Amino acid sequence: MKYIVAIIQPSRLAAVHEALVAIGIEGLTTSEVQGYGRQKGKTEVYRGTEYTVNFLPKVKIEIAVDGGMAEKACEAIRSAAESGKIGDGKIFVLDLESALRIRTGEIGAAAL
Ligand SMILES: Nc1ncnc2c1ncn2[C@@H]1O[C@H](COP(=O)(O)OP(=O)(O)OP(=O)(O)O)[C@@H](O)[C@H]1O
Ligand SMILES: [Mg+2]
Repeated sequence: MKYIVAIIQPSRLAAVHEALVAIGIEGLTTSEVQGYGRQKGKTEVYRGTEYTVNFLPKVKIEIAVDGGMAEKACEAIRSAAESGKIGDGKIFVLDLESALRIRTGEIGAAAL
C-alpha cells in the first residue's frame, strides 16, 4: 500500500477530486495548508505588482491506495492539477505499512 500526499493549488481541488473519483478512489482527506517551494513564495503577482509573501495557501490531499493504484492516482492528480505555472504543487508517495477500518476491524487493503 502507498500513502499519497499531494499539495495542489486550491483552485484545482474540484478537478483533482473529479479525476480521482473517475479512477475509483473511494476515500481521501483534504486540508487547507500553507507552504512554499523553490521561489519561497515570493513570486505572487497581485494587480500587476509582485509582492513578498512567504506562505501561500495550498490544499493538501491525502490518499491511501493499494500499491497497484498509486501510479494511476498520481497521474490523475498531476494531469488535473497542472497549469504549467510555478506553484502547481507536488506529489509525495510514501510506503504505507498498515491500514485498519475501525468499524469492522478489517486490515490491509481491505480496509481502504
Ligand atoms: N520539499 C518540500 N517539502 C514539503 N512541501 C513542499 C516541498 N516543496 C514544495 N512543497 C509544498 O508544495 C507547495 C507547492 O510547491 P511548488 O509547486 O511551488 O514547488 P516548486 O519546487 O517551487 O516548483 P515550481 O518551480 O513549479 O513552483 C508549496 O507551497 C509547499 O506547500
Ligand atoms: Mg514554486
